Amino acid sequence: MIIKTKIALIAALLLLTGTAAAEGDPEAGAAIGYSCLGCHGIEGYRNAYPSFRVPKLGGQTATYLEIALRGYRDGMRSHPTMVGQSKSLTDQQISDVSTFLASFGSAAVEAGGGTAPAFEKAAACAACHGQNGISVSPPWPTLAGQHKEYLVHALNQYRDGSRKDPVMSPMAAPLTDEDVKLLAEYFSSLPGLVTTAKGD
Ligand code: HEC
Ligand code: HEC
Repeated sequence: MIIKTKIALIAALLLLTGTAAAEGDPEAGAAIGYSCLGCHGIEGYRNAYPSFRVPKLGGQTATYLEIALRGYRDGMRSHPTMVGQSKSLTDQQISDVSTFLASFGSAAVEAGGGTAPAFEKAAACAACHGQNGISVSPPWPTLAGQHKEYLVHALNQYRDGSRKDPVMSPMAAPLTDEDVKLLAEYFSSLPGLVTTAKGD
């Protein structure tokens, strides 16, 4: 009973964080955002060390992009390139560039994603990331269609503490290497996110 109440409270707080996000100006964001597409706008572009594919952003909400960027800027996430990209940005600039990047969207996400085959290991993830990997609330990322290598990398960062989040750190901690691989294979195979290409 107490645990149930606690989960409901956490969910309510997470939803509040979502609605509290500042309004971004997509035109101001475009000036910042074009340089980001040098990596995020190229299909299959790779991060060199360690080698994994740069995450797809097309289909994520402005709210999630904003949370992620603040994470790099404020020390919850440690990836050196993205810390460098975000550390000089103000809250307003983060909102602006997030609104700009979210404006490209993904037709598959807007359509609500596809029908996902049942996969028991993903049942615990569905409450937030959706039955078919399409997020059910703006502050939570969509996983469907994301690069498999990036999903592995992100889950391992929560597991080893180099990425911190009050929700995901405890979710990822009990996963084995095999679980991570299977979950990443599953979510990456579903229709969802796309690369935000230049000129779209
Ligand atoms: C040199 C390549 C590069 C550039 C330029 C770059 N990024 Fe990234 N970005 C990455 C990589 C690699 C990651 C994954 C980092 C990690 O391990 O957390 C990432 C992660 C992100 C994420 C988190 C995605 C998620 O699913 O959580 C966001 C949001 C993001 N970048 C936005 C931006 C914005 C905005 C800019 C421009 C201001 C930018 N990036 C510029 C390579 C780049
Ligand atoms: C209670 C809600 C909740 C549940 C349940 C949950 N997640 Fe998450 N997940 C989140 C939030 C919030 C974030 C963003 C955290 C951050 O800012 O780093 C996230 C981030 C992620 C990311 C990183 C995405 C990216 O683009 O970088 C992956 C991968 C992920 N979750 C996988 C899973 C898997 C696999 C499960 C089930 C084992 C799961 N999550 C269960 C809320 C949840």
